[in-house]
Formats: sequence, C-alpha cells, structure tokens
Amino acid sequence: MNNACPRTEAPVQSRTLIRLCKIEDIPEGSALQVTLPEHAPLAVFRIAGECFVTDDTCTHGNASLSEGDIEDGLVICPFHSGSFDIRTGEPVDRPCTKKLQTYEAIADEGVLYTALPMHE
Ligand code: FES
Repeated sequence: MNNACPRTEAPVQSRTLIRLCKIEDIPEGSALQVTLPEHAPLAVFRIAGECFVTDDTCTHGNASLSEGDIEDGLVICPFHSGSFDIRTGEPVDRPCTKKLQTYEAIADEGVLYTALPMHE
C-alpha cells in the first residue's frame, strides 16, 4: 500500500513537529482522532491520498468530528449534521457557522506530523 502523502515535506529543523500517527493507520476516506497532552483532540483525515489535520471538536457543540461522515471533502458532524470543508475548516452547512481550526499536515517516511503553536 502506498501511504505517501502528496503534501509530503521533510520536517524542518526550526519547527517543533509533533508526531500524530502512522499514515497507514488512517484508512483512506476516513478520519482518526489523535489526543495530545495539553491540547484539544485533533482529527486527522485522509482523502484521496492527502492528509489533513483539524481540531476534532465541532465548533457548534461537543461532537467528535472524527466520528462524522466524510463526503466530497466535507466532514459532517455526527450531532446536528452541520459540515466543514476539511481542507480549509470553513463551515459549509448550518448549524455550523464558526470556522474549524486547521493545522499543517506534514508527512515524512509514512508518519504524519503537525506543528502546533507553542505555549509560553
Ligand atoms: S455539534 Fe456539530 S453541528 Fe452541532
């Protein structure tokens, strides 16, 4: 199986990268929740071989978007069926009106990383 992500780029020395998961652990066309210490849960998506990272919690309520359906590049919230564009985090269908936070998706040798803002 080819788990290379077209958005692949090598980790850059000046950034602190956070390991999220193996890319092969994200089934194509679906999402996985990743929990990190001292950060809200993230959702990692794999769509048409590309990887995307967003907050996992819906901006409308306390739903886990990694448990939502994925259709045409949108994630549909399992609670009230609002939706977001996975690539941009923009809300598409109501009741979602607040943008979903997105993060860099950096793949290197089959592992997905992101760079989160550092807290002082
Ligand atoms: S909690 Fe997601 S649409 Fe309401």
